[in-house]
Amino acid sequence: MNYSERLNNVIPGGAHTYSRGDDQYPENAPQILERGEGAYVFAPNGDKFLDYGMALRAVTLGYGYKSVAEAAIKQIWNGNNVTRASLIELEAAEVMVDLIPSVDMVKFAKNGSTVTSAAVKIARAYTGKKYIARCLDHPFFSYDDWFIGDTPLTRGIPAEISGLTLNFRYNDIDSLVALFEKYSDQIACVILEPATSAHPENNFLQKLKKLCKTNGALFILDEMITGFRWHLQGAQTYYGVEPDLCTFGKGMANGFSVAVVAGKREFMSVGGIKEEGAERVFLTSTTHGAEMSSLGALVETINVYKRFKVIEHMWSYGQKLINGMNDLAKDLGIGDNFKVEGVSCSPIVVTRDKGRSSSLAYRTLFLQEMIKNGVLIPCIALSFAHGELELQKTLEATRKSLQVYVKALESGYEKYLQGKIVKPVFRKYN
Ligand SMILES: Cc1ncc(COP(=O)(O)O)c(C=O)c1O
Repeated sequence: MNYSERLNNVIPGGAHTYSRGDDQYPENAPQILERGEGAYVFAPNGDKFLDYGMALRAVTLGYGYKSVAEAAIKQIWNGNNVTRASLIELEAAEVMVDLIPSVDMVKFAKNGSTVTSAAVKIARAYTGKKYIARCLDHPFFSYDDWFIGDTPLTRGIPAEISGLTLNFRYNDIDSLVALFEKYSDQIACVILEPATSAHPENNFLQKLKKLCKTNGALFILDEMITGFRWHLQGAQTYYGVEPDLCTFGKGMANGFSVAVVAGKREFMSVGGIKEEGAERVFLTSTTHGAEMSSLGALVETINVYKRFKVIEHMWSYGQKLINGMNDLAKDLGIGDNFKVEGVSCSPIVVTRDKGRSSSLAYRTLFLQEMIKNGVLIPCIALSFAHGELELQKTLEATRKSLQVYVKALESGYEKYLQGKIVKPVFRKYN
């Protein structure tokens, strides 16, 4: 059996994240990786790839960043997990509270899904309401039923649960106004990412916040992707809006497992134990939520962000990458078929076929050709380890890959693509 067969034999999906699965990559992608270093990943056979996946965006300083690894190791030698709260747990919580203006209290966990679900639970507990309004344009908030039940993947989730999640559109305040009218006084919270591929327009976030306040719903920003990229204090500071609750995860600890639900004391304290006689809310309560190595890594990651211009680097590298890749596409006359767009610190690749329709076949072809040229680019997650050398390598690989793209547009991708076309993660059937 090859690695893929062995992985799928013992792990449903072949990996612990669906976006790491075989159906997300072209056939020539490495099936398994041994390690990462800086901006590169290595397969067991020694193949080396410049990486833009960066552990599903979790690694922002570079794989194996020394001072972060050392901070984690120090906590491992301190025992890694002790019987009561630990000193590093207090330090990490205070660091987060000091860092983000909207945050008075935090609760750590290991995964983003855990903390977005915790935020929703706080909102339901605080308001006593049952509906959740989530932004339909944002692909993922949690593997829990409240979210997955509102995607095509409803198998295993009772309709009663799915029916409690409602949808509105990004940059479309009227779509939220309509929800608040239809479900008057029944919506516990509104959850969205501050931005994905486009910035908010016409004070969308500020209007949304006001609408939440008027209707007694909590305003939750999921900063899993924007956090530690748009701004060190989150996209909430970048866009000048304070949420009631927010969640962070990826990027907090350079790949170590930490996520956090955070926010105003008034709401976070529903999970507290000090208010005599108050009805309790069983908020996240996990054995490993405050694992010391990860929290040591978190504190040092934030120090590194403060010591160096990590955020500025991601914005400027991203803009250079966008310009460079788009120039190459334009020079080859395929500027309408291949484009890099989005916010500079978080670019996205858009692949279109001859008729200019969005195309997964051409996406697969592009990924395949980039891999042939030593670049693994399932998304564009930038890091502090992506420097001038990596930029030039990427542009050279793009130039060669787009030459094949041009030929495929002329005579069909089938002639150039080996293996299957990648599939969307959120599809109903395999
Ligand atoms: C916006 C957003 N929220 C939540 C999550 C879930 O995070 P995790 O994979 O750590 O559970 C993700 C993960 O992709 C995400 O992108």
